Amino acid sequence: MSAALTEILEKLKAERVAFGGDVSTLTDLDAVEDVRVKYLGRKGSISAYFKSMGTLAAEERPQLGGELNLLKEHIQQELDGLRSKFAGNGACDDSLQHDLTLPGTAHELGHRNPIMQVLDEVKAILATMGFDVATGPLVETAYYNFQALNFPADHPAMDLQDSLHLDHGLLLRTHTSPVQIRTMEKSQPPIRIIAPGRCFRKDTPDATHTPEFHQVEGLAIAEGISLAHLKGTLVAFARRLFGKQTKVRFRPSFFPFTEPSAEMDVYFDEKLGWLEILGSGMVDPNVLEGVGIDSEKYTGYAFGMGIERIAMLKYKIDDIRHFYENDIRFLNQF
Ligand code: DAH
Repeated sequence: MSAALTEILEKLKAERVAFGGDVSTLTDLDAVEDVRVKYLGRKGSISAYFKSMGTLAAEERPQLGGELNLLKEHIQQELDGLRSKFAGNGACDDSLQHDLTLPGTAHELGHRNPIMQVLDEVKAILATMGFDVATGPLVETAYYNFQALNFPADHPAMDLQDSLHLDHGLLLRTHTSPVQIRTMEKSQPPIRIIAPGRCFRKDTPDATHTPEFHQVEGLAIAEGISLAHLKGTLVAFARRLFGKQTKVRFRPSFFPFTEPSAEMDVYFDEKLGWLEILGSGMVDPNVLEGVGIDSEKYTGYAFGMGIERIAMLKYKIDDIRHFYENDIRFLNQF
């Protein structure tokens, strides 16, 4: 063996020892990568040794090549092992990991989305006013979503553009009002329910629209219910939700299932002024008769509000999409 080869093989032994020293100090993936570059990189020491093969006689080259490949494989295996170790548990020191006297890792507790918080608050206020909670399916028939609510056949709300239609004449409910019909079909007056839940419309998301949103519906049917009951209930509700001094006003409006109908506005401040928070009205006699309730004997009122809108006003949020994007920086504020 030539003196040159002997010398290189000695250096290789030292290289293996140095590598052992380097890997013993590694604690994370970045450090593993640094060591890989040092030994196996294009300008790393192993490739320098491969280049030095040229200085040897042709018959000695295979021996050095064999040794170099062994060392290269060894380095590769060690680094692969470390890589999967650190990838699994992040950078961590075994001795720390097994020290049972250390405090545990605190896991941050999540909390309810602001939409759910406002929904709970609205439900709680109305529960103290005697409203029970009723539910209905998210997938509805056109009958419950429209016809039974006295929508004329050509009403624009029934437009294919507005609703998300499924097969077999079904659709995703566009409002919580169908729960009014389902409740009246099942029970006799007096009825006093709210129906909170998800609704869907074929809307492209923007600052004030999302295809999925939440409403709370209200319905009260009994003998002698008048517009005064509707007004008293909703004014009391608004003041519980937005504060004792809250000013509200009712504006005439139109909904197929109520007659007369009104929208309720709440006064916020000089900048925002009056803003609509719900639709309401006296249940249309056609709707009562449709479910077999005697409209000469019974009357009732109904109302429906959008929860996202109320949450936006309550918390001064300028874009409805925040509620659905799960950005932790937004959610943590509530
Ligand atoms: N369903 C209506 C909508 O989604 C809201 C509504 C208005 C509900 C008036 C009612 C009501 O119960 O009386 O636009």
